[in-house]
Amino acid sequence: MRTLDDLDVSGRRVLIRCDLNVPLEDGRITDDGRIRASLPTVNALLDRGASVVLMSHLGRPKGTPDPRYSLAPVAARLAELLGEDVPLVPVGEPATGRVTLLENLRYDPREESGDETYAAELAKYGDVYVGDGFGALHRAHASVAGVPRLLDSAAGLLVAKELDVLKRLTTEPERPYAVVLGGSKVSDKLAVITNLLGVVDRLLVGGGMCFTFLKAQGHGVGDSLLEADQLDAVRQMLATAQERGVQLLLPSDVVVAREISDDAETRVVPADAIPDGWKGLDIGPDSVAAFAAALSNAETVFWNGPMGVFEVAPFANGTKGVAEAVASSPGMTVVGGGDSAAAVRQLGMAERFGHISTGGGASLEYLEGKTLPGVAALES
Ligand code: 3PG
Ligand code: MG
Repeated sequence: MRTLDDLDVSGRRVLIRCDLNVPLEDGRITDDGRIRASLPTVNALLDRGASVVLMSHLGRPKGTPDPRYSLAPVAARLAELLGEDVPLVPVGEPATGRVTLLENLRYDPREESGDETYAAELAKYGDVYVGDGFGALHRAHASVAGVPRLLDSAAGLLVAKELDVLKRLTTEPERPYAVVLGGSKVSDKLAVITNLLGVVDRLLVGGGMCFTFLKAQGHGVGDSLLEADQLDAVRQMLATAQERGVQLLLPSDVVVAREISDDAETRVVPADAIPDGWKGLDIGPDSVAAFAAALSNAETVFWNGPMGVFEVAPFANGTKGVAEAVASSPGMTVVGGGDSAAAVRQLGMAERFGHISTGGGASLEYLEGKTLPGVAALES
């Protein structure tokens, strides 16, 4: 794959696909990690005398302009961080700045369908293309997989770094190799778990998806999240883990409540005794201790997905405890996924991790062994 060094950029216009899809609350950016992670490439190109046009999606606006998904707050933040104006222009209108940001690419349905005519319209903004939107590399969208086939192109610094880390995770990782998975849905993680069972020594499962595992083991789960249609697949995974000698750790206790709120009444109960009418919303303290023990001598750790509903205070301790345990483990530590990465930054623990990935789905699909469409396009 070509890198920035292979491009002649002086005096030229560089079109950069970034992933500036940041979380917003009432129009305010709550975590600017992805914007900051995009700056090294932008600055390197500006230093070499290029002008740059940045493009990204934000959220899922369904192929039509929708002010709730405008990149305006991102343009403002970029301007602050770069110390220069960053005009935001709708796709189709001319780029006016040394640094210009195009409005949300998903305002046009042709982005997600990977349409060639859209790719050609976007390609007009650059003499060369740089793919630096790591978090979107798993999308075969026009800006990710189409434009790089039309222009001289290379991977940006962020993409190069992220792919390097993922390669180290999959090519002879130092052992013991532990993976911690959370988040709400098993169906999202099925493929990655299946693939990981061939490489990991320990798999720790928390978050909403652990209840489908507990149910598959024959336990009642009360009103907890359950994907009944995944039970057979999960039973199969449990059997495969056993055959391969993979230590699969599930929570032994959980924090339950009847509702998700800051002042909910909570209890800690054994994982096999969740009362009817109550839902499991976090892993309990015994589970955190067991997970921490399993991580304490791991030489490689990958973590994706929160252990509970960590945005709501009574259900945040599991995620905090696991963050602490991953940070304290002696080897290489990688956190992937918007939620877990945001949690780590909010806890002020970012410095204690080896690498915080800007991509959730992209990292998982890489670990599934899939070829990412954005990578294939940059290699072509
Ligand atoms: C992400 O946040 O996962 C990436 O920005 C990709 O967004 P998407 O899941 O909406 O395609
Ligand atoms: Mg996603």
